[in-house]
Amino acid sequence: MKILVTGGLGFIGSHTVVELQNKGYQVVIIDNLSNASLDVLEGVFAITGRVPIFEKLDLKDKSAVQAFFKVHQDIQGIIHFAANKAVGESVVNPLMYYENNINTLVYVLQELTKLKVSNFIFSSSCTVYGQADIMPIAETAPIKPAESPYGNTKQIGEEIIQDTCNINAKLNSIALRYFNPIGAHESAKIGELPIGVPQNLIPYITQTAIGLRDQLSVFGNDYPTIDGTCVRDYIHVVDVAKAHVVALQRLLDHKNQTNFEVFNLGTGTGSTVLEVIKAFEKVSNTKLNYKIVDRRPGDVVSAFADTSKANLELGWKAEHTLEQAMLSSWKWQKVLK
Ligand code: UD1
Repeated sequence: MKILVTGGLGFIGSHTVVELQNKGYQVVIIDNLSNASLDVLEGVFAITGRVPIFEKLDLKDKSAVQAFFKVHQDIQGIIHFAANKAVGESVVNPLMYYENNINTLVYVLQELTKLKVSNFIFSSSCTVYGQADIMPIAETAPIKPAESPYGNTKQIGEEIIQDTCNINAKLNSIALRYFNPIGAHESAKIGELPIGVPQNLIPYITQTAIGLRDQLSVFGNDYPTIDGTCVRDYIHVVDVAKAHVVALQRLLDHKNQTNFEVFNLGTGTGSTVLEVIKAFEKVSNTKLNYKIVDRRPGDVVSAFADTSKANLELGWKAEHTLEQAMLSSWKWQKVLK
């Protein structure tokens, strides 16, 4: 069964390609290599022993997208990761984000809905909830005004899919709202490849520990949490990847209850920044150089998932602990150096 993975060389995309191949799917990857490397294909091959079909293609090129789908009429499902994801960059360059994350989604959906089978999995984010009033956050929590153009593209993306599903009963779609995906494949053959200075906590921690950065800045310790630092739901990327395969299978088996569904992907447990640092220090047996600095603008105090919908309806549950995820990130960092 042929499955298209857009952005399949990226962090979550590459781990999902591995899980799809492990389950016997034939994978076609589209990636424009703007934030990924071709070496990832070798990593995937080293793990699964199979090379996915790869096309270097920019989804902003509408005629190239049309030409691609003419050749691949037998695609049974699409997992759509291709998008920009840096919150700060989106504030500086909003039009780039709207073009890259919205236009491309529209072009893919236009072609998908012409196929005989239209199954679609969308990368969404817990950012759509903003600072939720009730923890843990269920899928029924209100969608708050987006804090950034990046967040807005996730909200608009879900709306575009919902509107398209409303008038196209043949289109079946699931939006997966990720909390904080971290970690790397246990083989340390694939992982996160941040370009430049990492914006996210875990690559910043591992780069500091290996000596690429001097010191981690912890953004604020005066939040109303157990130790004053922000709370997030850190989930191992392999658990996230597996959820995509389960969600796709749900669509292929016609088990979905409506033709647009949303699920949270998290562990259900919140951890503070200091708890993450402690977990890292324990598994790496190192002492991390960090200091407390001012709050980072735009950070929410706390966000962790109510995962009961995904647990019950998808039959999926995150299996890795925070320590296992931190250890895998550390192993990966040591391979990267
Ligand atoms: C953000 C986005 C999320 C996006 C994700 C990945 C929001 C609300 N969330 O998550 O949608 O999918 O990035 O790009 O926009 N921290 C430090 N020092 C650092 C880095 C981070 O203390 O050097 C802290 C942050 O203050 C935060 C936690 O670590 O409390 C996690 O930060 P980060 O990894 O950037 O993820 P989010 O901001 O939660």
